[in-house]
Amino acid sequence: KDTAIRASFFDFAAIAEQPEAILEHARYLEDGVLLLREGRVVGLHEWQSVSEQLNPHDIIDMRGKLIMPGFVDTHIHYPQTEMIGAFGEQLLEWLNQYTFPVEAQYHCPDHAAQMSAFFLHQLLANGTTSALIFGTVHPQSVDALFSAAEALDMRIIAGKVMMDRNAPDYLTETPEESYQQTRALITRWHERGRLSYALTPRFAPTSSPALLEKVQQLREEFPDTWLHTHLSENPQEIAWVKALFPERAGYLDVYHHYKLTGRRSVFAHCIHLEEREWQCLHDTDSSIAFCPTSNLFLGSGLFNIKRSWQQGVKVGIGTDVGAGTTFNMLQTLGEAYKVGQLQQYKISAAEAFYHATLGGAHALDLDHAIGNFNPGKEADFVVLDPAVSALQTLRIGNSKDIWEKLFVLMTLGDDRNIAQTWVNGRPVWHRDAGEKAA
Ligand code: GUN
Ligand code: FE
Repeated sequence: KDTAIRASFFDFAAIAEQPEAILEHARYLEDGVLLLREGRVVGLHEWQSVSEQLNPHDIIDMRGKLIMPGFVDTHIHYPQTEMIGAFGEQLLEWLNQYTFPVEAQYHCPDHAAQMSAFFLHQLLANGTTSALIFGTVHPQSVDALFSAAEALDMRIIAGKVMMDRNAPDYLTETPEESYQQTRALITRWHERGRLSYALTPRFAPTSSPALLEKVQQLREEFPDTWLHTHLSENPQEIAWVKALFPERAGYLDVYHHYKLTGRRSVFAHCIHLEEREWQCLHDTDSSIAFCPTSNLFLGSGLFNIKRSWQQGVKVGIGTDVGAGTTFNMLQTLGEAYKVGQLQQYKISAAEAFYHATLGGAHALDLDHAIGNFNPGKEADFVVLDPAVSALQTLRIGNSKDIWEKLFVLMTLGDDRNIAQTWVNGRPVWHRDAGEKAA
């Protein structure tokens, strides 16, 4: 039997190649019904057109709520949850001072299991149903995360960090160990249920040429895995890459040389790209994860989202926790807007929510499965309370249309606006139940 949910619905029916096309694909049903069967979308309809065929007792009435496809976080580090908001440094010092010592703790499987559960709860409490996730160098970190995600039936992509230099001994490995452990994890987890594997070399500075050769070898052996890394985040980082790889034409060329660019390659940040690097991302159909709260927090710089449209490069939004300062996609979109403003580019509510849903799914090459309410899509969605405070009620109340309401949601919204989160057709998180998944 179908599940029928009556509420307001918002999504995007198709991929947009240009920002102007986003509005054409936007779909808003003030009074709609979402039909679900066995974890998938059967259809999204106007209430008027189907109300007579539905048995009133079978309808879950959520009038007053706004339902959107679950948010897609295209770049996040689960082991950095416990150091979010660490003070005072830019990228390289921040890694050495705060990040590496915390990641060392994921050697312990119990710690990894406990933090995996906490982390996935944070995603769900913020309406995020899918993410591309960094583990640590320890394979047990990824075993713990995938086990917890499988229990919730979440669609996630994750991988073990690969790194063999320029990090403490307790976090480095040999290229051969990295290869063997990664290979074992792919065999265990890749394409098991809704789980997928991403080859995860941390970034060029912690990768020797021999390690990158192993990543390349794995990608050739397992061509449908993802590739997830960092690129062009911080000026000192970029100078360091050029010093470490003088034989390469630039930062991206280090990855490109080992054939690590491509349709399922996701590069976090991409703030200080050179002309030919933009061109290379386009030519290889690679994707970018734009992480505004992280880029502001670490003082890394302003991502040029306008350029990504001009260049035809796919972009998703990443929170990049723990350099990012929130798990919440609404707050992250609000910061993305400000990053645009500082460059005289206006990120509309339509563009912001596009990137957070279907655009993010497209950037992860998952738009065949998630990202909107088209028939056959997996039923991952977030139930939003449009106004949860006196200020929000005032401001939403005087908004003239859905666009202004969505804009207010992304400038004033936070985790209080997330009423429920559904995964694969089932409710897995309720605000009313507190910080507890069903
Ligand atoms: N570059 C290499 N590692 C990291 C990381 O953990 N976070 C961020 N923001 N950038 C990185
Ligand atoms: Fe990151």
